[in-house]
Amino acid sequence: MLLTPGPTALPPSVREAMSEELINPDVDPEFAERYDALLDKLGQAFDTDDEMVVMGGEGILGLEAAIASTVSPGDHVVCLSNGPYGDGFADFVESYGGEATVVGADYDDALPIDELERTLADTDADLATMVHCETPTGTLNDLGPALDLFEAHDVLTVVDAVSSLGGTPVPTDRIDIALGASQKCFSAPPGLAVCSVSDAAWERIEARDPDSLYTNLLPWHEAEQPYPYTHLTTLVVALDRALDLILDEGLDAVYDRHREAAERCRARGRELGLDLYPAPERSSPTVTAFSVPGQATELQARLREDHDVTLATGLGDLADDVLRVGHMGYNADVGRVERAMDALADAL
Ligand SMILES: Cc1ncc(COP(=O)(O)O)c(C=O)c1O
Repeated sequence: MLLTPGPTALPPSVREAMSEELINPDVDPEFAERYDALLDKLGQAFDTDDEMVVMGGEGILGLEAAIASTVSPGDHVVCLSNGPYGDGFADFVESYGGEATVVGADYDDALPIDELERTLADTDADLATMVHCETPTGTLNDLGPALDLFEAHDVLTVVDAVSSLGGTPVPTDRIDIALGASQKCFSAPPGLAVCSVSDAAWERIEARDPDSLYTNLLPWHEAEQPYPYTHLTTLVVALDRALDLILDEGLDAVYDRHREAAERCRARGRELGLDLYPAPERSSPTVTAFSVPGQATELQARLREDHDVTLATGLGDLADDVLRVGHMGYNADVGRVERAMDALADAL
């Protein structure tokens, strides 16, 4: 049982969709129709009227494309961060010649809003990055106060919502580029990077006319057909099916299901004497990060060997200190969480 915070287990009907006969995306009009419908469904799942882009590549491609398309050499960018993906945005900015100002907090702290306010008063940055759910630490950031400040200072926003979209509400209509990925709460296979792009973001991208090729968002906006390259048909069909499941269930019901699975996971963790890595009020409904100093790797191995349950360890410095249960998408299910926690109880 795969309960990692992405890729998730796949619903059976998504796996079946992947065995459909292949169609040629450049030739067959049926694909174009399905693709249009997919963009529409994604817009509903993102809860935005902004234009949607579906790139063939995993989530990181979307993060890099957002920065490659909006940052020119010398641009000043504020990178608000309390985790590895927030920090990583600064690396992308610098690698495209921008100057990143990291407004950072410890990984188990909230976003540093007071420091952000001081920084914005003192910079000409007109672009900012941040992360909604820091998957490696199980933290869901409250984006509202930061978005208030960015709006007040006319700063465009790029937000990594890779592991929150489809699992908990994301304020996409206040975000210029909201980034997602197929294998997280949508429970499709890895391989598609999805994002919404506001009119203001397109204006900025057009003005910059990016030099990059595969990481340039512009061809997706200007292409005569909505995809400039041969699309990854099997993955598109799978994501389409996964979105049908979400929209048929209804977004509110899907969000409730994620909340219930998270609550159950944490209640079982408390019974086992496990602490959460982030403060409970910042713990994401999509992933639970338990603090297990020095034990994560061994627990992960035992769970896999003795119980056929796959959970995730932490990343980087936290690799052996955090054990993560991904209750996102298809895995946001109390029954599946109970089975994983039974196994964890035994392994502990
Ligand atoms: C918050 C966040 N952003 C971006 C990514 C990158 O996605 P991918 O692994 O599909 O490249 C991940 C992957 O786990 C993630 O958790």
